[in-house]
Amino acid sequence: MNTSSAQQLTLFDMNPDNSDWKVEQFSANAFCEESARQSLEDKFIGMTEITDKFSRQSVSHQLSKKGRLHRWLKYKEGFSADLVETLFKEMGIKKGHMLLDPFLGSGTTSLVAQMHGINSVGFDIMPMTEVAMFAKGNIARYDISELRNLADYITSMKRPPDYKKRAESITITDSAYPDETALDIPYYTEQIAISPFSDEAKGLARLCLLNSLERLSYTSKDGQYLRWDINSKKVIEANACRIANGREPFKVKLDKGDLPSVKQVLVEEINKAIDDILYFQKRPHNMANDVEMYFKRGSALLELPLLQSDGIDGVITSPPYCNRYDYTRIYALELVYLGMGEDEVRQTRQDLLSCTVESKTKLDFLRDYYDSIGRSEDFNRVKNAIKANAALSEVLSALKIRNDNGDINNKGVLKMVKGYFEELSFIYHELFRICKKGARVAFVNDNVRYSGEVIPVDFISTELACQFGFTPIKIYSLKQQKGNSSQQMAKFGRVPLRKSITIWEK
Ligand SMILES: C[S@@+](CC[C@H](N)C(=O)[O-])C[C@H]1O[C@@H](n2cnc3c(N)ncnc32)[C@H](O)[C@@H]1O
Repeated sequence: MNTSSAQQLTLFDMNPDNSDWKVEQFSANAFCEESARQSLEDKFIGMTEITDKFSRQSVSHQLSKKGRLHRWLKYKEGFSADLVETLFKEMGIKKGHMLLDPFLGSGTTSLVAQMHGINSVGFDIMPMTEVAMFAKGNIARYDISELRNLADYITSMKRPPDYKKRAESITITDSAYPDETALDIPYYTEQIAISPFSDEAKGLARLCLLNSLERLSYTSKDGQYLRWDINSKKVIEANACRIANGREPFKVKLDKGDLPSVKQVLVEEINKAIDDILYFQKRPHNMANDVEMYFKRGSALLELPLLQSDGIDGVITSPPYCNRYDYTRIYALELVYLGMGEDEVRQTRQDLLSCTVESKTKLDFLRDYYDSIGRSEDFNRVKNAIKANAALSEVLSALKIRNDNGDINNKGVLKMVKGYFEELSFIYHELFRICKKGARVAFVNDNVRYSGEVIPVDFISTELACQFGFTPIKIYSLKQQKGNSSQQMAKFGRVPLRKSITIWEK
């Protein structure tokens, strides 16, 4: 480390030797053109700081599991309260400011903001966010003795033997629960809804039940997939069918053993919440009362254009990654519990920022939308910026060449990558408009690689942000990089895949 850069260090431990994080070859075996990505790499690698200040844990849900309040909803894609607090300092976010997170998820940004007296606006298309924000946002208002009564009330509940209603399901969640649980879920839900408890207490119970569904089911959220237990009807029937047809049964590793009851899990979750509420209520300085916390369920693509210009003091967010991760499959149990049917789940999959191989282009829809709000010129501006981004055009051409060469196993990847950057461009454009001058924007994201083509999401995004007027301030890259998939490694070798936090200023 040289001394001049060491002296610039304020908040972060910096290792200026970022050569291991620099991509030397973007297109494996120099199969496709890569000069535009190389020049972007040369342009931004100098402002990239390799840091262990943001551990891999802090950009993931792992710290939230321990974090009181944040653990009320297990949201694997969430970042930690620590990360948000570190960014407050980095970005100069202070009491009274207005912070935005357009991809709010489990609500981390807004809830940490609330504890620091910072106002916030948040959006997300998932109904879980709404339930989480209501329950977590009430932290200062809960009456502990009422919650204890609620836990006792649930303990004393007994489903009548003639109760027939079962938990709703869609094809991908069919037979997810043991029979008793499938009956208990609607029963407990109904009984809590008609109970004499306050809306706050009922809201907490709703979140606790929502957060219990995975534990109660034969499924497990594992990486990119919803895995099924070896004891589930789905696996048993599928294997019986395979054996009958002379085929090997599926090798299923997941065995959750005996599943707990609704009552047991629900009471456990409520007691855990009571513990956290007590902790915070004893520390009232952690709970500012005069803070505005606005949340709306909806797509950021539609909501951001409706916000007034120059009103936001900072943005901390993490959009879905460009990694085929399908939130609507991983959270299918929760979506169905919250009332979605087959069509609504399918529609929500399309409303997600393009991050699955099923995503269809939203460009025509966005054109109509910008026309309808009298902002056709903005639509054209964003479209032209996308076209003018040489590295993005290079990535899209490279993927097409790889596809023509038979290297891409799912054509949906091409549409996903194109849509992903198109849609993020609209987000970046709107963020520039709605931020105050001097406001900083932090995006947590992962770089990805498809068929030997590296997609530097951090640098392409930073270039797009510059096209809309932002000044790049810093790109933090985590010491721990993202792992290369074993197939990609075997076929194309290993490359650095950065996990980055890009910071731009208006
Ligand atoms: C990486 S997660 C954010 C997690 C969040 N930082 C937290 O701590 O929980 C990305 C979120 O973006 C949401 N999302 C995807 N497409 C969206 C869209 N078009 N508008 C708003 N939210 C969207 C997903 O539902 C998901 O909750």
